[in-house]
Amino acid sequence: MIPTPHINASEKGIIAETILLPGDPLRAKYIAEHYLESAAQFNATRNMLGYTGTYKGKKVSVMGTGMGMPSMGIYSYELIHFYGVKNLIRVGSCGSLQESVNVRDIVVGMSASTNSNYANQYNLPGTYAPSASWELLKRAVDAAEKKGIELKVGNILSSDVFYDDDHEAWKRWAKMGVLAVEMEAAALYMNAARAGANALCILTVSDSLVTQEATTAQERQNTFTQMMEIALEIA
Ligand code: HPA
Repeated sequence: MIPTPHINASEKGIIAETILLPGDPLRAKYIAEHYLESAAQFNATRNMLGYTGTYKGKKVSVMGTGMGMPSMGIYSYELIHFYGVKNLIRVGSCGSLQESVNVRDIVVGMSASTNSNYANQYNLPGTYAPSASWELLKRAVDAAEKKGIELKVGNILSSDVFYDDDHEAWKRWAKMGVLAVEMEAAALYMNAARAGANALCILTVSDSLVTQEATTAQERQNTFTQMMEIALEIA
């Protein structure tokens, strides 16, 4: 089924086996323009911009996913099943749930807890634990170590709700050691696991639910650069 309902690339080979996935399509454009060589746009359906280019001679794609698990679920499914994408690396932002996780830190989701019902489709007789690809995670940790960039690796929360009616709900996840909250990783990890693909979620901490602190656009840019160095190194 190519093109798919949501991705307009006319042939499988137009999208690389490895793709970076920011939430914001304009972030995808920025990454293509600033980090990839010879980038060509392959998608504009719903303005969900996608590009393929090369990084250090290796073919790499980048595309926005939108916000939330339904959106991430659609794009990652189509990339894996219809375009043969094998390695999916989310590059996003998150809110800290721990005093030990500061704004501007980089968090990597070893696993992604969730309040979503996404796993219901698999009809499992229990609770599934969405996890990152060990290979991608190890490579990210090794690349960060080499570059002297500190990573906070652990469990993250993929939430269906940004404006939670229960202002204290995040504290119950924090008590379980969950590092940070975002809104897409669990769906990405589940789609990848179900299809035998590899996924990883790398996040910059844009705000803290603990301290109410938030980063400025300039600060976000600096940590974004470090996150991108790691993501591209393992791509
Ligand atoms: N909640 C959910 N997703 C986020 C947040 C948050 O506080 N910050 C950045 N992404």
